[in-house]
Amino acid sequence: MKSFWQDLPKPFTSLAPLDGVTDVVFRQVITEIGKPDVLFTEFTACAGLVSKGKERVMTNLLFTPEQKPIVAQIWGTKPEQFFVVAKEISQMGFAGIDINMGCPERTIVKGGACSALIKNPSLAAEIIQATKEGAADLPVSVKTRIGYSHETIEEWIGFLLQQKIAALTVHLRTVAEMSKVDAHWEFMPRIVELKNKIAPETVLSGNGDVLSLAEIKEKYEEYGCDGFMIGRGIFANPWVFNPAIDPQTITVEERINLYLHHIELFEKQWLGKKNFALLKKFAKTYISNFPDSSALREDLMLAKTLEQLRERLENYS
Ligand SMILES: Cc1cc2nc3c(=O)[nH]c(=O)nc-3n(C[C@H](O)[C@H](O)[C@H](O)COP(=O)(O)O)c2cc1C
Repeated sequence: MKSFWQDLPKPFTSLAPLDGVTDVVFRQVITEIGKPDVLFTEFTACAGLVSKGKERVMTNLLFTPEQKPIVAQIWGTKPEQFFVVAKEISQMGFAGIDINMGCPERTIVKGGACSALIKNPSLAAEIIQATKEGAADLPVSVKTRIGYSHETIEEWIGFLLQQKIAALTVHLRTVAEMSKVDAHWEFMPRIVELKNKIAPETVLSGNGDVLSLAEIKEKYEEYGCDGFMIGRGIFANPWVFNPAIDPQTITVEERINLYLHHIELFEKQWLGKKNFALLKKFAKTYISNFPDSSALREDLMLAKTLEQLRERLENYS
C-alpha cells in the first residue's frame, strides 16, 4: 500500500516524539521557524485512550493543520486496544500511526509495553497486525531500538521488517544503554542491508545524536537510510530544521520573542489544564548562546506564575 512515507524527499527529516516536550504548542513553534518533513505526537497510552479519562488523554493528539503530515504515536500491551485506538485515530486527520517499541522507562517496561516488546516479538506482531486492521488505509510504523540488553539487529529489526510495516525508525542504542552512550551509527549499514533484503518498501529512519542538517547530509551519503529523526537536538537549536538559519545569527531579542510566542500559545492552549511550570523547561532552548543567557535563565526559574515568567522576559534588556 502506497503511503505518504514514500512521497517524502530523500533524505527526509522528522522531529522525534518527546514526551512532555513536543506537544501541540512546541510543535507549532517549530513548524513556524523550521519545519521538519514529518512530525510525531508524544507517545500516548492506548489504555488511556479507551478509558474514562479519555478526554484528557486525547489532548496529546491535538495538532494544527500546519503540523501535517503528523503521525500519532501510541503505546500499550493489548492488541484489541490498539485496534480500537487505530480505528479512531484513522478518522482524525493523521498521516500515520506509529507504535512505540523503544521507550525504556522502567514502570512502562515492567508492564510489558514499549521496549519490553523487543523481548516479546509474538505480542509485537499481534499489536502491529491489530493496529493495521484498525488503521485501515493509514500507514502503520514502528519506532524501536537495536536490542534490549545487547544489539540483536538481525533478530529483532529483521523480525519487524517481516511484519511489512510502512516505516521503521531505529534509535541506534539498546534499551540497556538508555541514552548514556553514543548512538551506534556504525550499525546502520547492517540495518539498511536487512531492510533491502527483507522489506525494501519499508521507509527507514535513523535516530540518535543527530544535531544538524549538515550532519544529516553526511550520514545520508555514508549510510543511505531514507530519513533522519532529531530529538534532543531541538533543545540545542530550535531552528535546526531550517536550512537558511545559522543559530549564531539569531539575536537575543529574537530568542526572547520566540519564547514569549511559545508562552502565548501555551496560555491559549493549556491555561488551567497544564501547570505553567512546564514552560520553564524551555528556557534552556530559547535562552541560550548569548553572554548573559545563564543569568537570565536563573532569573526565569524564580517566576512563580506564567505572568511573572512573561514579565521577566519582557523586562530583560
Ligand atoms: C524528554 C524525552 C521524551 C521522549 N519521549 C519519547 C516518546 O514519547 N516517544 C518515543 O518514541 N521516544 C521518546 N523519546 C526518545 C526520543 O524520541 C529519541 O529516540 C531519543 O531522544 C534519541 O534521539 P536524540 O539523540 O536525537 O535525542 C524521548 C526522549 C526524551 C529525551
